[in-house]
Amino acid sequence: MSALHKSAAPAGDIVLSADNLVKRFGGITATGNVTLHLARGARHALIGPNGAGKTTLINLLTGVLDPTEGRIVLEGEDITRLAPHQRVRRGMVRTFQINQLFASMTPLQTLALVIAQHRGQGARWWKPLGSDPAVAARAEALLETFRLTEVMNQRTEHLAYGKRRLLEIAIALACEPRVLLLDEPVAGVPAGEREEILQTVAALPADVSVLLIEHDMDLVFSFAKRMTVLVNGTVLTEGSPDEIANDPQVKAVYLGHGDDHHGAAHGANGANGAAHG
Ligand SMILES: Nc1ncnc2c1ncn2[C@@H]1O[C@H](COP(=O)(O)OP(=O)(O)O)[C@@H](O)[C@H]1O
Ligand SMILES: [Mg+2]
Repeated sequence: MSALHKSAAPAGDIVLSADNLVKRFGGITATGNVTLHLARGARHALIGPNGAGKTTLINLLTGVLDPTEGRIVLEGEDITRLAPHQRVRRGMVRTFQINQLFASMTPLQTLALVIAQHRGQGARWWKPLGSDPAVAARAEALLETFRLTEVMNQRTEHLAYGKRRLLEIAIALACEPRVLLLDEPVAGVPAGEREEILQTVAALPADVSVLLIEHDMDLVFSFAKRMTVLVNGTVLTEGSPDEIANDPQVKAVYLGHGDDHHGAAHGANGANGAAHG
C-alpha cells in the first residue's frame, strides 16, 4: 500500500485522478476506497482477478455509475458528477462497444460519422459520409493506423472479431481523447488476431494517456510502464511491471486461486481470470 504513495507522480503531471473512490451496491462494496493517479502520457495497466472491481472502477471513471464516496478530477477539473457525454467532451474516452451499433455500416462510414460528429458538423444527410475532405483525410489516417484500410468498405457485422476491436479503438481515437480507457481490447479475440492489436495499442499516440484493463498478461506486460493491482475492490499494490511481476502478494493472488483461501472468495470466475494470465 505504501508503494502507492511513495510512487505517486508530481501533481502537475497527473491527468486523471481518482481519490478515495467507494462504490457500494446495497451490502456489496464493489469499490472500497480506491485511489489511482494517471500520469500524462501514461501507459498504465489495471489488473486483478474477476470480481476485483475493474469494470466498476471504469464505470465510475466514465460516469456510467455514481460513486458512493470520493472524487474524480480530470485535468484539474472535478468531474465526479458529470454525465458520461460531458466527460467525453472533456477528453476522457473509453473504447466503444460496437457489437450492436453500426453493424450495417462500414468502418469508413462509421469513422467519418464519428469524426464529423466530434467536430460539431453532425451528419449531413444530403452529403455522402466522408465527402468532407478534412473528415475523409482523418478517417483514412485512422483506417491506416488501425489496419482497417483493406476492409473499410465491408459492413462491420462481417468483419473478423479482431478487426472489430481495432475499429472500436479507432472510434475512440476519432474523439481525440486526452485520456483513453481500454477495457479488455483482446478479450475474446482469437490468438491469431491478437498480435495486430498488441502492435496497434503499442503505437497509440504518445500524448494520449492510456489506462488499460486487461486479463491478457502478454498485452499487459508488453504495454504497461506502470501497473495497479486491484483485489476485492481495493488497490493491493502499484508499481513498475518488474515490481509487480516479482511481488509475492500479487503472485499469491494470481497463483493462489486454486487453494481454499482465495478460491472461496472468487470461485470459478477468479480462477478463470488468473488462467488467462
Ligand atoms: N450492479 C451491480 N450490483 C451488485 N453488485 C455488483 C454490480 N456490479 C458489480 N457488482 C459486484 O462488484 C464486484 C466487482 O465487480 P466488477 O467490477 O465487475 O469486477 P471485475 O470487472 O474486476 O471482474 C463483484 O463482486 C460484482 O458482483
Ligand atoms: Mg470486468
